[in-house]
Amino acid sequence: MLNELIEKRYSPYSFSDRQIEKGTIYNLFDTARFSPSAYNEQPWRFIIASKSNEEIYNNILETLVDANKEWAKQASSLILTIAQNNFSKNGKKNYHAEYDLGQSVAYLTLKATELDIFVHQMSGFSRDKAIELFNIPEGYTPVSVIALGYKNIDDQKPEKGRKEISEFVFENSF
Ligand SMILES: Cc1cc2nc3c(=O)[nH]c(=O)nc-3n(C[C@H](O)[C@H](O)[C@H](O)COP(=O)(O)O)c2cc1C
Repeated sequence: MLNELIEKRYSPYSFSDRQIEKGTIYNLFDTARFSPSAYNEQPWRFIIASKSNEEIYNNILETLVDANKEWAKQASSLILTIAQNNFSKNGKKNYHAEYDLGQSVAYLTLKATELDIFVHQMSGFSRDKAIELFNIPEGYTPVSVIALGYKNIDDQKPEKGRKEISEFVFENSF
């Protein structure tokens, strides 16, 4: 089951016109809620826009580098991901905030895959533009933009090289 989802998932460069319903998007975030995080801080924040919410959608699109804009503009929904930098309890820096945000996105991605929704994450965006356009307060860092949508029927998962386990798992020292 999990293996099937992992096998099915990939980051597409094209999406179909079918729009994701709002309830379905919230279903994905309901899965993200259960991701683990350091001290259960849950430092993830998301700004979401579907295509029908033109102004916000275009603002998220506007933060992207041109190469990403080109294909991401087909996506039904765009999400700006943001990490809360410090712990709520004591204001100390949370060195794992972005790590935890990434885990919640992984949860969201697998749930999306189960629902036939494909997710393409992007680091190619302007943090400064995101801060400005969305009034992101101090203490929060925009981390990525995510494009989501149902995939084009003829889009195929490309073969991509993966490292061998021996390249990243070591039994003694590094
Ligand atoms: C944090 C992160 C940033 C990424 N940034 C971009 C990006 O800016 N543009 C892009 O086309 N793909 C981006 N990708 C997608 C990766 O290129 C893709 O996940 C990788 O090539 C593996 O392919 P797959 O997801 O189809 O398995 C990003 C992925 C991640 C996780």
